[in-house]
Amino acid sequence: MRKLALLSDIHGNLEALTAVVAQARAVGADAFACLGDVVGYGADPVACCDLLRSLAPVAVILGNHDAYAADDRDLDNFNSMAQVATLWTRRQLDQERRTWLAALPLQAAPAPDVELVHASPSEPAAWNYVRFTGEGARAMLDQKARLCFYGHTHVPMAFRRVGDAIEQLPGGDYDLASGDAWLVNVGSVGQPRDGDWRAAWTLLDIAGQRITLHRAEYDLQACQAKILAAGLPPRLAERLQVGR
Ligand SMILES: [Fe+2]
Repeated sequence: MRKLALLSDIHGNLEALTAVVAQARAVGADAFACLGDVVGYGADPVACCDLLRSLAPVAVILGNHDAYAADDRDLDNFNSMAQVATLWTRRQLDQERRTWLAALPLQAAPAPDVELVHASPSEPAAWNYVRFTGEGARAMLDQKARLCFYGHTHVPMAFRRVGDAIEQLPGGDYDLASGDAWLVNVGSVGQPRDGDWRAAWTLLDIAGQRITLHRAEYDLQACQAKILAAGLPPRLAERLQVGR
């Protein structure tokens, strides 16, 4: 494994996932990992599970939407739109796929110095949000590897520690040798919320110690039409075109 494609928050968006896989292969990715939320919101939870598994990923992390879709726990922590989408998603998934989701780990270390989580290395099962410098600094206290990658907020960004100083950086391309430790949000494949509608993912060049944020255009109209045809909340289709 030399170039690892880090995908997170696919959220049942098959068009976006398909485009990302093609782009990752085109830029030389030789392995895939998923940081959680394969399902939830989008119209293709089954096909996204199956496509992801067909990639023989080195790790797939449990996301909060995966956990809620995997069993019949109550949905009090979700807003009404997420509740509707989760109930719909449960009906699409058969028991084999729900069992697969339920068994996913909260953390993985697919390579030396590399740690993967969905929300945060601090209490990963609490699904905390890491959006600001203070939250990043707090989370970095609990990361075990020099490089920790996460998703959950759907906004690509990076926190770089040099000595005792932690700096927050926008999502982008970075030389990892420029920091003592990194906590990096890889962006969202299926529902970006950084104002850019294109699918986001991050390539980790392990030998070259470099990360690159990629964006892939996909068939947005086809994806939106499927969400509406499925009877999912129209807002889930609308938000995709504005990346919010
Ligand atoms: Fe998510």
